[in-house]
Amino acid sequence: MRWSFRKVACFTLACFTLAVFMVATFYIVWSIYGLEKYLPIGFRIFQETFTESSFLKGDLKVRSEIHHSKKVDTLFNEFAQDNRNLRDSRGVSKWKSQPLSDRCEDFFTHWLAANPDWKFQKFGDNFDKSIVNKKRFFEVKYDRIKQRYKQNNIEGPLVTRENNNTIQEEYLSAIKATMDIETKMVETMSLFRVYGKCFLNQNQETVSHPEIFKKMTDKLFPFLSGQLPIFERFDGKVYNEGFPEMSKYEKSQDILLNYIQRNVQGKGILVSATTKHARDLIKLIRVLRAHNNELPIQIVHKGDISQRNQQYLLAAAQTEVDDMLDPKLSTDYMNVSPELDLKEDSKRRNVYFPKQDLTFVNIKQCISREYKYNFPGYANKLLALFFTSFKEVLLFDADTIPLVPPKEFFDLEGYKAKSAFFFKDRTLNDFNDYIETNFFTKLCPTLKSNSLDDLFDIPVITEHTLNNGYMTGWRHFQEAGVVAVDKSKHFLGVALASPLSIWKDPVVSSVWGDKELYWLALSIAGDENYAFNEHYAASVGVATTNPKYKQYTKSNAHEVCSSHPGHISNDGRLLWINSGFSYCKKNGIFRDRNLFPYSAMDTSEQKGLFDQPLRIQHALVPPGIPRIREPGSPIDDTPETELLLKWKSRPKDVDEINKDVKSEEEKISQLDSNPQKGWVKSQACAGYYYCAYDLIDSYFTDKDVDNGEFFEYDDNTVSTIEFLAKVWMTGTTKTKLPVKAAEPETTQGKENEGTKKEGGSIEGDKQKKDHN
Ligand SMILES: *[C@@H]1O[C@H](CO)[C@@H](O)[C@H](O)[C@H]1NC(C)=O
Repeated sequence: MRWSFRKVACFTLACFTLAVFMVATFYIVWSIYGLEKYLPIGFRIFQETFTESSFLKGDLKVRSEIHHSKKVDTLFNEFAQDNRNLRDSRGVSKWKSQPLSDRCEDFFTHWLAANPDWKFQKFGDNFDKSIVNKKRFFEVKYDRIKQRYKQNNIEGPLVTRENNNTIQEEYLSAIKATMDIETKMVETMSLFRVYGKCFLNQNQETVSHPEIFKKMTDKLFPFLSGQLPIFERFDGKVYNEGFPEMSKYEKSQDILLNYIQRNVQGKGILVSATTKHARDLIKLIRVLRAHNNELPIQIVHKGDISQRNQQYLLAAAQTEVDDMLDPKLSTDYMNVSPELDLKEDSKRRNVYFPKQDLTFVNIKQCISREYKYNFPGYANKLLALFFTSFKEVLLFDADTIPLVPPKEFFDLEGYKAKSAFFFKDRTLNDFNDYIETNFFTKLCPTLKSNSLDDLFDIPVITEHTLNNGYMTGWRHFQEAGVVAVDKSKHFLGVALASPLSIWKDPVVSSVWGDKELYWLALSIAGDENYAFNEHYAASVGVATTNPKYKQYTKSNAHEVCSSHPGHISNDGRLLWINSGFSYCKKNGIFRDRNLFPYSAMDTSEQKGLFDQPLRIQHALVPPGIPRIREPGSPIDDTPETELLLKWKSRPKDVDEINKDVKSEEEKISQLDSNPQKGWVKSQACAGYYYCAYDLIDSYFTDKDVDNGEFFEYDDNTVSTIEFLAKVWMTGTTKTKLPVKAAEPETTQGKENEGTKKEGGSIEGDKQKKDHN
């Protein structure tokens, strides 16, 4: 065979083309799998661009990748892999037709064999919320680079291509790390649900597989030491009947969760407290007496409420009425509503100030040592709820003030219907992020098939969760100053809130303290059987009538300015307020006197406000606000972005106009438009002060204005509140101890009384104590 020149040329060309083709294919595949970064920069063809539009595109891609609709139940898949029956729907129905206890055994035996070392993980701070905000991710890194340059006194090109490439790599690994953590958290919550279904099922007479139950409890609740709390009654004696027959409980035999769920009893008021809450608590106890309250009270602590302060609380609960109302005990007695004689007035009101049944519940030994620091302040409320021996619990903050007898909370329709009743927060214009609501959705049961939830008949969440204020984009939804729940009926949700709160990021970082964790934990538990009070939080106080003090002089809106949110029942009654009864939550006339409207008042008028308790004649619930995110956290955030952008172009309220103005004189205090927001923030009361409006320029396109609700209370209600206010304000540590109780060890209580005069402020003194 002869090779003509043509043939040789053709052959060479073909070979060459093929080679080029193969190299190109290899390279494309190589770069698609993200291997390009291993090449020296000059050799990279598919370079990332670092423009704003590429960032946005990237964000959309990540949002889509992490969207809850793409959730797969990895635990189910693992289970199905080894269980051929579960590969089709017929097999699944057959498996599901087995009795629950067999299903539980089947699943957990399998799972335990595959995951012998698994336990609840704390996770660090590797969950990165900025994976859906690439621009921010880069900016944070730039700032660090700049910082480094600055420290080394280097000037010059701040961000190089090399920098960008490095950050890009960090960004990709942040996505991976975040998604990994998310998957593990989703798995963990799914295990909690199955565990709840199998072992915390109320209707079960006996525990079906105690060994599995115990093993799973240890794995899911490693922070529990297995000890029961110590219940200490007012007579100072340890008594063992917080739960019935507590002495029979044995850590090695019994399972704590089972024990608690089965032994809770009765109704009661629950407060979580440390020494710094004692002052508010003394006052709260007095208010409870003024309501003729007969519900027992449990105060849960971790050994961090001093003996002395316990004595003060006992005194408040147990002292004789004459001592309790003795004007000499409180410097405030003569100053606060001077014309009001508590003794006389209480007779007229049939208030007999019954002694309160007070129990201290020490849970220090209940938390295992390695979790000692995982439950800061607010999280103790969740623990308190878990450990209390009450079945039907009314959980109060120490600075909560019930304005109706507490037992009436249990008579509210919502509570009676659902046995779990919550209150809504102020409708503030603060928003949360897609990644937060999407993440929480993922933690909830959402998969109708191919899921453990389906295998165990756990219903998927509905609009009840997905369409609530938080899940549709608002930062604040629940106000947890009062929570009413029947623990035995919602036990998994109650139990699950504590471990949930251990995940600082992204759980706690997405919610304010414990606030949202009550409804959220229930929804995650697959328990949507809870109700919210209809009204959002109101501003309570006295409506501004003097045009000199009004912020919107030409508007027809009512204005109620206050540092106290209040909560109004469906039938219009004012049920409770929070932040105590002082005019400000953090009182300080000296600090606030230059702020509008106090700047427009003379000294005596200022004093008349700050030295007196909050007066309540009106309550105002501002108009509701539209949701910014559709239920289900849609991937495309264009509508959300556009909405927020549109709102940005609305006229500014006084708080926004003055945001960056330093000097008080230059601040604008009055406007002649309508308010733009229902809640306008002021710097007064250390930033806790808001003015609320019941008429604002509308957020909807088909209306001019949005209307809220304005409530005016009759003289009888107003005077009852004034009565309660004086009872609250005159609570001090000087009250005589009950006869049986021991003397306090030191005289520090007296010193506290001494410092109290400063600015007439109880809070000032409290703050000082917090610093010690
Ligand atoms: C790095 O990325 C930023 C965008 O965040 C871009 O503005 C800049 O031009 C990039 N620098 C280089 C050298 O690519």
